[in-house]
Amino acid sequence: MEVSPPNGALQSESAKASRSGDLTDRWTKLTLALEQLAGVDSIDKVIEILRQTARGIVEADGITVVLKDREFCHYVAEDAREPLWAGQRFPASHCVSGWAMRECQSVSIPDVFDDPRVPVDAYRVTFVRSMVMIPIGAPKAFAALGAYWSKVRAPSDDEISMLEMLARTAATAIENARLISTLEARVAERTLELEQTHEQLRQTQKMEIVGQLTGHVAHDFNNLLTPIFASLDLLSNRGNLDERTKRNVQRATDAAERARLLVQRLLSFARRQPLKPSATNLHTLVGDMHDLIESTMGPRMVLIASVPADIPLIWADANQLELAILNLAVNARDAMPEGGAVTLTAFAVQDDADRPDSLPAGDHVCLAVRDNGAGMDKETTARSIEPFFTTKPLGQGTGLGLSMAHGLVAQLGGMMDIESKRGIGTTVKLFLPIAKKTEEGIAQPVEGEALPPQDRGLALIVDDDELVRSGTAEMLIDLGFEVIEAETAHHGLDLINRGLKPAIVITDHLMPGMTGTEFARTLKRERPDIPVLLISGYQNIQSVAPDLARLWKPFRHKELGASIASLLEVA
Ligand SMILES: Nc1ncnc2c1ncn2[C@@H]1O[C@H](COP(=O)(O)OP(=O)(O)OP(=O)(O)O)[C@@H](O)[C@H]1O
Ligand SMILES: [Mg+2]
Repeated sequence: MEVSPPNGALQSESAKASRSGDLTDRWTKLTLALEQLAGVDSIDKVIEILRQTARGIVEADGITVVLKDREFCHYVAEDAREPLWAGQRFPASHCVSGWAMRECQSVSIPDVFDDPRVPVDAYRVTFVRSMVMIPIGAPKAFAALGAYWSKVRAPSDDEISMLEMLARTAATAIENARLISTLEARVAERTLELEQTHEQLRQTQKMEIVGQLTGHVAHDFNNLLTPIFASLDLLSNRGNLDERTKRNVQRATDAAERARLLVQRLLSFARRQPLKPSATNLHTLVGDMHDLIESTMGPRMVLIASVPADIPLIWADANQLELAILNLAVNARDAMPEGGAVTLTAFAVQDDADRPDSLPAGDHVCLAVRDNGAGMDKETTARSIEPFFTTKPLGQGTGLGLSMAHGLVAQLGGMMDIESKRGIGTTVKLFLPIAKKTEEGIAQPVEGEALPPQDRGLALIVDDDELVRSGTAEMLIDLGFEVIEAETAHHGLDLINRGLKPAIVITDHLMPGMTGTEFARTLKRERPDIPVLLISGYQNIQSVAPDLARLWKPFRHKELGASIASLLEVA
């Protein structure tokens, strides 16, 4: 039924009554649609409500919902008695919806073939003769709602206001939906971040537990190597061994040496490796290693190293750092079986962008080893620092290289960072602390000439581990000492207080009751005439007692002799 007949003919009473009933019905439909729009949370639902309700509200022969898509008008949905333009895009400059959105004004066109804004070709193939186009969104419209009739007619004010109300509520609903989707995206992003942080935390905790376990095992094993070396050295020092026994002793010694290296790498991973850090010049260190790295990597590989000569001195154990660099270079080689270039660069970290979040505070130098080899996926990268994780064929990798490097830099107060992409390559960065002036001058483990065997008086050996104690005692006897053993520092102190006069005290550090360092300090205070040598596998002793003479476990016969010789000279 026509709302306002274009011919303005008089209407009968019954037509008027029917019209008012009809209008009430339409207002009810409109109210329902507005209520529905108020509750939606997505743009798709807004479009669907408009599609389902708009036509009935104005009794049109068709409606369309149009979205602005940059320079185009996208006819996203329609409800019409015959197909219109659903799914099509028209240049915004050449369609009525484009005009309505640009001007942000409702358009009423009684005859589509009599209005310059209408692209007549698009309409000629349809049933449309008159139309209304209402922009959605103000002050900038981002959509439009079109209503079409098959007759030439001027739409009534009621119809236009109804469509405008619908458009206003739809605009608010779309804004809300956009807000919700941004919020949802933010929540999703935040959840992902949290998940990643949890995963990182889980990985760190796992490594911490693995580290502690490895540390305990390696520490105990390290202790056990001391009596093994002691016994083997004593045996081989005997001149009267037959050839077969000699070979067997040598084999056992070689195996023990390999075990010592393995344990060292494990201790390094567990950050319990006794380190000998000093202010180290990275430029010189890398320069000195150049040939060694190239020959280790083989003829297909080139090393491009650039470490500035004025790079700040770092605080590191040069030998251990060399091992770590060598392992990174070998890893790079293995990632490029066809050959290639490995780049080694270093710079002082000044820019915050170059500092990983988890890097401990302080000044650092970054040493980066880069290859463009096979690379690793995320999971392999995360696992690569786990001890014994290797993807190399049996016998070609122990899976301890990166774990050792990771533990080493952490123990030095830095960190290791791995960036890798499958098919692109890998960059391993070692962040190493810059040496502070005050760190110089820490006493290093004593080394000296071997001690010729002769009568040297009494040695007191204090260790709670019976095997280590008796093994060391045997070595001391061999070096010419008469030996008294004590199981605890208290017992040792008691013996001295009761009149024992040892020429030297050799003590373990970690013992129940009084530690070796406490024992040594007490002796230094009360009996400064007695030289004390700490034997320890405990790395923290460096920070606990930097001034005390010490020897790391496991030690060989001649290392013990050399330490004692150097200590007796200065004592
Ligand atoms: N530069 C690299 N490119 C690609 N993968 C690498 C790289 N470095 C390490 N990896 C991966 O990480 C694993 C662990 O490396 P890691 O150095 O700890 O042990 P390994 O090289 O396998 O054995 P090891 O160093 O003890 O001889 C490697 O097996 C390899 O899968
Ligand atoms: Mg390796």
